[in-house]
Amino acid sequence: MFRARPEARPATIPVLVEGAEILVPDGTSAAAALLLAGLPAIRETPVTGSPRLPLCQMGVCFDCLATIDGVPNRQACMVPVAPGMRIERQHGAREPAA
Ligand code: FES
Repeated sequence: MFRARPEARPATIPVLVEGAEILVPDGTSAAAALLLAGLPAIRETPVTGSPRLPLCQMGVCFDCLATIDGVPNRQACMVPVAPGMRIERQHGAREPAA
């Protein structure tokens, strides 16, 4: 369903998505890295457990909440990737970061 545009920059930045290393173009958001990893969902809602994928890609819908470098509840679409970044799916509600 999702794939990189043909004119996208070369994938040179290594990130870990659910523990698996993938390469993404510089400037990619963590949400886009999750989509490029091909996951069927990146989080589940706390109440019904419905699967979610990033939708708006601009910080409005909160369907991209993920754990990034150990910090839960990050809006992955608002976080640019960095080499070695760890991006993990979020299952249900998380406690706020201390
Ligand atoms: S995709 Fe909507 S807030 Fe991130």
